[in-house]
Amino acid sequence: MGTLPWWRRGAIYQIYPRSFADSDGDGIGDLPGITAHLDYLTDLGVEAIWLSPFYPSPMADFGYDVADYCDVAAEFGTLEDFDVLLEEAHRRDIKVVVDFVPNHTSDQHPWFREALAGPQSPRRDWYVWREGRDGGPPNNWRSSFKAVGGAWTHEERSGEWYLHSFLPQQPDLNWDNPDVEAAMHDVLRFWCERGVDGFRIDVVHKLAKDPQLRDAVPGEPVPYEDWRPQIHERLRRLRQVVDAHTDRMLVGEVYLLDLERIVSYVNTGDQLHLAHNFVFLRLPWDAAAFRSGIDGFEALSTEAAWPAWFLANHDHARVASRFDHDGQGPARARAVLLMLYALRGTPFIYQGEELGLPDAEIPSDRVVDVDGRDPERAPIPWAPASQAGPGAGFTTGEPWLPLIADTERLAVAVQEGDPDSTLSLARRLAALRRRLPALQSGEQRSLTAGDDLLAWLRVDGADRYLAIVNFAAQARRLALPGDLPRQGVVEISTDPAREPNGPCELANMQLAASEAMIVHLS
Ligand code: NOJ
Repeated sequence: MGTLPWWRRGAIYQIYPRSFADSDGDGIGDLPGITAHLDYLTDLGVEAIWLSPFYPSPMADFGYDVADYCDVAAEFGTLEDFDVLLEEAHRRDIKVVVDFVPNHTSDQHPWFREALAGPQSPRRDWYVWREGRDGGPPNNWRSSFKAVGGAWTHEERSGEWYLHSFLPQQPDLNWDNPDVEAAMHDVLRFWCERGVDGFRIDVVHKLAKDPQLRDAVPGEPVPYEDWRPQIHERLRRLRQVVDAHTDRMLVGEVYLLDLERIVSYVNTGDQLHLAHNFVFLRLPWDAAAFRSGIDGFEALSTEAAWPAWFLANHDHARVASRFDHDGQGPARARAVLLMLYALRGTPFIYQGEELGLPDAEIPSDRVVDVDGRDPERAPIPWAPASQAGPGAGFTTGEPWLPLIADTERLAVAVQEGDPDSTLSLARRLAALRRRLPALQSGEQRSLTAGDDLLAWLRVDGADRYLAIVNFAAQARRLALPGDLPRQGVVEISTDPAREPNGPCELANMQLAASEAMIVHLS
């Protein structure tokens, strides 16, 4: 167990710096705000934090439009603030993963400004420029943001078009140009030398595109991402850069809805360490769907691969709201936490998931994101508004986005004092995973357990733990295979009514609506 690398051991906690904690009252979270709350993360038992971008940026995409890869935006602090955060995190045995956004820069990045000087500019080829076709864009590629439409913008002065997979303010870099690749390797080196432990690579599957920029054809893999074999060659070279430093980790945002393609980024052992699995994130709340999502990854992955499980991030509706069609959202948010900690693989927890936060209501005059992602980015309520004022302990100023309505019940300070809260559950789950080698590194076996029940075993030698999640909005009786012991001890349950550490008769066991539990088999 001592030999598991840190990125396989426990949870990696995603911080969206803008919304975590504001230290200076400007309504925007910042790096000193994170440093001030590191003890909270120690208590939560996280292994590492992943910070969404904090680099200088015009914030057209809230930091995913980077204007300088090697500095800190003034609204988030300074490089010195970053060094303090890193040192304080390391002092607490918390690793720090930073976001690496290599597919595109901001249109305000000096490289793009130089490229705009015209076709003769030495930086021109660092981006993707083409002549138009029949008076329109060079091909039919689309931006990932629906509101943007086409992926090309016409540049008046030269008459050429440039490619942007996201906003027009986020021009795509030309990774076919070796100078671009070398410059991005230098960015990784800069942060490695500063001491960061890993990188989350933004839209990593977009780092190779059809060099001929052919039209997308319905029913065929899109030519604007995951182009082979270049994508894998580029990943291997990224890996070599971080492997020149000790114990660093690469996790990729492999936003492909095809498990075979996802595993190809982790199966060879010389590309990514971990791949965010978006097939899993997009599953409907259904036991059979989760069964095949989990078993499908296991079946396709090699010994070199290790799963990364997550159901939330800053781009997707929160679990408590997403799975709330029958009012069970809050209970399911608890069940999801247990599932993430009990599966073989690294759990990624998005800030606020440990509180069971729902999405916030965003009035139309407060909408700021082009792609509808404000609700899941609402600031963390640290204290109830009745005590801390309207900023709920996140800020003493005007928060950049409205907070959730129910800070009285869901704020950190309230949940900390309640042993039945989701926060207390999350802390217990992390502690349990730390204590039990079976949950960290044990083998995993799927079980049939009856309708709407997802069940699996984690096995470490003679030590066996059964994890069960009830996907139904009603109670369900467990129907396990006959060769399992008839008795066990409940280690933990998401249902506060269930007695902790109580012995149970597995043969007669009933799970409450949306309940999940881990049982030690005896
Ligand atoms: C994925 C990021 O998670 C998202 O927030 C961003 O808008 C796009 N990549 C573009 O960088």
